[in-house]
Amino acid sequence: MPLVNTKEMFEKAYKEGYAIGAFNVNNMEIVQAITEAAKEENSPLILQVSAGARKYAKHGYLMKLVEAAIEDTDLPIALHLDHGDSFELCKACIDGGFTSVMIDGSALPYEENVALSKKVADYAHAHVPYVTVEAELGKLAGIEDDVNVSDADANYTNPAEVEDFVKRTGVDSLAIAIGTSHGAYKFKREQCTRNENGVLVPPSLRFDILEDISNRLPGFPIVLHGSSSVPQEYVEIVNAHGGQMPDAIGIPEEELRKAATMSVCKINIDSDLRLGMTAMIRKHMVEHPEHFDPRQYLGDGRKAVKEIVRHKLRNVLGSADKL
Ligand code: G3H
Ligand code: 13P
Ligand code: ZN
Repeated sequence: MPLVNTKEMFEKAYKEGYAIGAFNVNNMEIVQAITEAAKEENSPLILQVSAGARKYAKHGYLMKLVEAAIEDTDLPIALHLDHGDSFELCKACIDGGFTSVMIDGSALPYEENVALSKKVADYAHAHVPYVTVEAELGKLAGIEDDVNVSDADANYTNPAEVEDFVKRTGVDSLAIAIGTSHGAYKFKREQCTRNENGVLVPPSLRFDILEDISNRLPGFPIVLHGSSSVPQEYVEIVNAHGGQMPDAIGIPEEELRKAATMSVCKINIDSDLRLGMTAMIRKHMVEHPEHFDPRQYLGDGRKAVKEIVRHKLRNVLGSADKL
C-alpha cells in the first residue's frame, strides 16, 4: 500500500460524518503507537510532521519510519507537513515524498496568504501523484510552532472571506479558528466556568462560525488545529511524579465529536500524545529508579500513546471501522 493523499479520505469522512485524526510524529515509538492503534481500530490515518519535528528527526528517517509502518500495518496513511511556513519547505516535502502539505500563511496579510497558498497549491497539484494542500485562515490563540500568537492577536476566521480564499487559492482543505488553540494550556482559569463537580469547563467552540463557513463552502473539508483535550488523568500522573502542569486544560471531547459530524474532516492532535508519553515515562522513572534501559520507560510511553489514539479514533473522531 503506497502513501495516499487526503482527497478520498476527506470525501468519505465528510459524507459519513466523522473526522480523520492527524497526529504529530517525531520518533519511532510515536509512529508505532499511532499506526498500531489505527490498525487495531481499522481506521484511516494522517501522520503529520512539523518543521521542528523534521529538523529533529530528519526527513529521511521519518520517511523510512512511515514506510516501515505501512509495511507493518498495510494501512492507507497520508504523510502531511504540519504548519509549513514557506514555499521552499512545502516544496522540499512534496519533492521528498510527502502526500499532503499545509501552508500556514495565517499570520500574513490576507492577500499575501492568498498568494503564498496559491503558489503552494499550484506546485502540489502539478506533482504526480497529486499532493493535497491545507491552508489556514484566521489566527489561533497560543503557540503556532515558533511564533507566539498572543491572546490579543487571536481572532476567529471571518466567514465572509472563505469563499474568495478557497476559490482563488485552489487549496483542498482549510484550517479555521473557532476557539481551539495549540498546546496544553488552551484557556485561562478566568475564561472557564465550573460544573456541579467543581471541574473547570472551558468556553464552547464557535459552532455558529463553523456552520456559517460550511454553508458557504458546501462539501469542502474543514480542519481543526489545537484539538487536544488534555486528559486530566494524565495531567494528574505528571503532577504526582515530579512534573508541573498546573491548570492544563483542553477542548472537551464532546465538542470535537460534534465538529467531526459537521464539515470538520481533519482534527489535529499532538499535545495529548506528548502528555500521555511524558506521564507514563515519569511514572516509570519514579517507580523504577533502578532502570536505565530506554526500552523500559519508552515502552510504557508508547503503550500510553497507543491507548490514547485508540480512544480518539473510536470515541472522539468516529473514524474506527471506516477503512
Ligand atoms: O501545532 C504544532 C504542533 O503541535 C507541532 O509542534 O512545532 O513543537 O513540533 P512542534
Ligand atoms: P494540540 O496542541 O492541541 O495537540 O494541537 C496540535 C496541532 O494543531 C498540530 O498542528
Ligand atoms: Zn496546528
